Amino acid sequence: MSDRLKELFAEVAPTYERVNHILTFGLDRLWRRPAARWGARSGGRLWLDVCSGSGDMARALLRRASGETRVVAVDFCLPMLKQAVGSGQALRPLAVGGNVRGLPFPEATFDLVTISFATRNINLSRSVLEDTFREFRRVLKPGGVFINVETSQPRSRLVRSLFHVYVKAAVKPIGSRISGSQPGYAYLASTIPRFYRPEELARILEGAGFSGISWRPLFWGAAAIHRGIKP
Ligand SMILES: C[S@@+](CC[C@H](N)C(=O)[O-])C[C@H]1O[C@@H](n2cnc3c(N)ncnc32)[C@H](O)[C@@H]1O
Repeated sequence: MSDRLKELFAEVAPTYERVNHILTFGLDRLWRRPAARWGARSGGRLWLDVCSGSGDMARALLRRASGETRVVAVDFCLPMLKQAVGSGQALRPLAVGGNVRGLPFPEATFDLVTISFATRNINLSRSVLEDTFREFRRVLKPGGVFINVETSQPRSRLVRSLFHVYVKAAVKPIGSRISGSQPGYAYLASTIPRFYRPEELARILEGAGFSGISWRPLFWGAAAIHRGIKP
């Protein structure tokens, strides 16, 4: 699956950000901002954005980083990372090719690890996610902060149904049309309704050994930011 996933992301890479902004009416950028702000509060000099893709979250972090802080962006899809460090970008993270299931960094390296809109692409299985979160915890320093921003499940049944109808009606057709990749957006749309409720994700983080877990819903619960600390 991971090779197929890389191919799917390579197909959508050139138009990925544009499609995101269109499908969310620009809200995806607004959702990364509080996540970056929350993470940046942890301070420190070395921050890691995993599954960084075209680098929207890494740039949100760079805007909040002090002069001494370095932001590293990891992704296994090189065409996506190329967008993150392309000539059109004024703010560029240090890009590293790698798989989050085994990060190419020693234990206790980073003060902050972030992930945005990618957790549901790593895998939907609880045990795989728990193992992956453990890997994020491994590369964090003790006291380091993990921030996860991802689509979620609105608490209200009505809002949840409307959200799922919108995803079905818009994400696949619009995303496929603009990107030219039908399988890419069929896959991305299919994972949204299947992802965890915020309290379930909090339990997975807890299972991976994070403490002090808290979360904030965004846009009536269509997305959520989770925060956990490495004890
Ligand atoms: C939906 S994009 C999100 C990109 C970006 N974080 C954002 O906020 O827009 C998901 C990204 O995760 C990457 N990805 C998925 N599974 C991965 C894995 N196991 N290791 C590294 N990168 C992975 C994909 O290549 C893709 O760039």
